[in-house]
Amino acid sequence: MYGMVNKAVEEMVISQFGDEVWEKIKAKAFVEEEVFISNETYPDDITYRLVEAASEELCLSADAVLEALGVHWILHTAREGYGDLLAASGKSLPEFLISLPSFHTRLTLMYPKLTPPVFNVTELKDNSLLLHYSSNRPGLSAFLIGILKGLGEMFDSKVSISIVKSREKGDDHELFQISW
Ligand code: HEM
Repeated sequence: MYGMVNKAVEEMVISQFGDEVWEKIKAKAFVEEEVFISNETYPDDITYRLVEAASEELCLSADAVLEALGVHWILHTAREGYGDLLAASGKSLPEFLISLPSFHTRLTLMYPKLTPPVFNVTELKDNSLLLHYSSNRPGLSAFLIGILKGLGEMFDSKVSISIVKSREKGDDHELFQISW
């Protein structure tokens, strides 16, 4: 994954728990990089190790760490670094979600080595939709849930999310019902 993801883990931990905790997490994860470079790619394993080590050090589940990362991703990483792209992708939560299928495709112009998730929207109604999420990577649903909560906060919408299908339960992709 691009370094910006590991950098977001670092920024989230430092802003909420401080430098010392971050150094412990890095040591526990056997990560030797002094800094992560946003537009360089790193093995996915580094990100998974950081999340696992953060989960142990902070006594939180890995899903709780991923969800907090997702919220941070929208409210800080994306807002501060990609404000124009966010603004151009919708003026409300449903507008944004409807444009999601092409969102990372646009990002691949800037980041050609991106291995993006694939999204699809079905059953669009006045205040709900179904979001299909497919990925080559396992175990990142909680990251997406955090992102959706962050988007809810950004658009000042009360969003509720329920998992309809998941790979853990034998389906071939994840399916979320989102209402606002
Ligand atoms: C400006 C905002 C965003 C940027 C710059 C961005 C960029 C990225 C990058 C770099 C990765 C790692 C993949 C790789 O490096 O190959 C990633 C993964 C991911 N992104 Fe985004 N993204 C943004 C917004 C979003 C939004 C709005 C959503 C969903 C609502 C989303 C969902 C995900 C998910 C679920 C992954 C995990 C990878 C996977 O499932 O395979 N991202 N994104």
